[in-house]
Amino acid sequence: MNLEIAKNKINTAARVAVLTGAGISAESGIPTFRDAQTGYWARFSPHELASPVAYEKNAELVWQWYAERFITCQTAQPNAAHTALAALEQRTALTVVTQNVDQLHQRAGSQNVLELHGNITTARCEKCSHVQALSPDFVPPPICQKCASRMRPNVVWFGELLPRAILEQAWKTFEQCEVALVIGTSSLVEPAASLGRIAKESGALLIEVNPEVTPLSKYADLRVSSSAIKGLGALLGEYSR
Ligand code: OAD
Ligand code: ZN
Repeated sequence: MNLEIAKNKINTAARVAVLTGAGISAESGIPTFRDAQTGYWARFSPHELASPVAYEKNAELVWQWYAERFITCQTAQPNAAHTALAALEQRTALTVVTQNVDQLHQRAGSQNVLELHGNITTARCEKCSHVQALSPDFVPPPICQKCASRMRPNVVWFGELLPRAILEQAWKTFEQCEVALVIGTSSLVEPAASLGRIAKESGALLIEVNPEVTPLSKYADLRVSSSAIKGLGALLGEYSR
C-alpha cells in the first residue's frame, strides 16, 4: 500500500484507533525506555525500577526515579505529532490509546485518550487508593490527604494488571476501527503489543510509524519508517502544521 492510499483511508475512515508508545514523545525530549542511555536509564532497566518488588525493596529509589521523570514530563512540551492527532480528532472519531504516562496527548488537546499504564502526574494511596495530583515541588513520598498513609506512583508496573475497564475499551476501539495507527512503540510489552494485530485481524488497515522494525511490522499494510513528527506529517499533512 502506498502513502496516498493510506492518507485517503485515514481521511475517509469512520473510526480511527491510535496506539502510541514512548517514541511519540522522544522528540519532546522524553527518553524512550529501550533507546535511552542517560541518567537512571543507563543504570537501571525499567524492570528493575518499575515493579512492585523494586518498590518493596527500595521505595525511596523508585520514588526518586519517578520524581525525576515527573519533572521531565512537566517541563516537556507536546510536539507536532501529538498536536496532529489532536487536530485529526476534531474531524474524525478517533481514540488515542497510549502506553505513555506523560499526559502530552491531553496537553496537545486530545480528548479521547485511554491511558493503559496510568500517569505520572498523580499518586495513589497505598492504603485507601485515593488519587491525588502531584505538585511540582512535592517531596517524595507523597502523603495521602485522606488517611495520611504513604502514596505510590499511579502507574502500572511490570507484573501488575492493567486497569480492566480501560483495557476493554482499548480492545473494543481496535476491534471496531477502520484504520489503526501504531506510533513509536517497540510492540514488545503486552497487552498493548497485540492491539494493532487485533485491528488487522478485524479487517482494519494497519499503519506503523516507527524508524525501527518491530514484531508488529510484518502485519502492517504500510510502514512509515521515520520519526513520529515526520511520519505523521507525511500521513496527516494538513493536520500536522
Ligand atoms: P520503547 O522504549 O520500548 O520503544 C520505543 C519505540 O519508539 C522504539 O520502537 C523506537 O524505535 C521508537 N522510536 C524512537 N524514537 C522515535 C521517534 N522519534 N518517533 C517514532 N518512534 C520512535 O517504548 P514503549 O514501546 O512505549 O511500560 O514501551 C512499552 C512499555 O514498556 C512502556 O509503557 C513501559 C515500558 O517498560 C511500563 O512501564 C509498564
Ligand atoms: Zn489514603
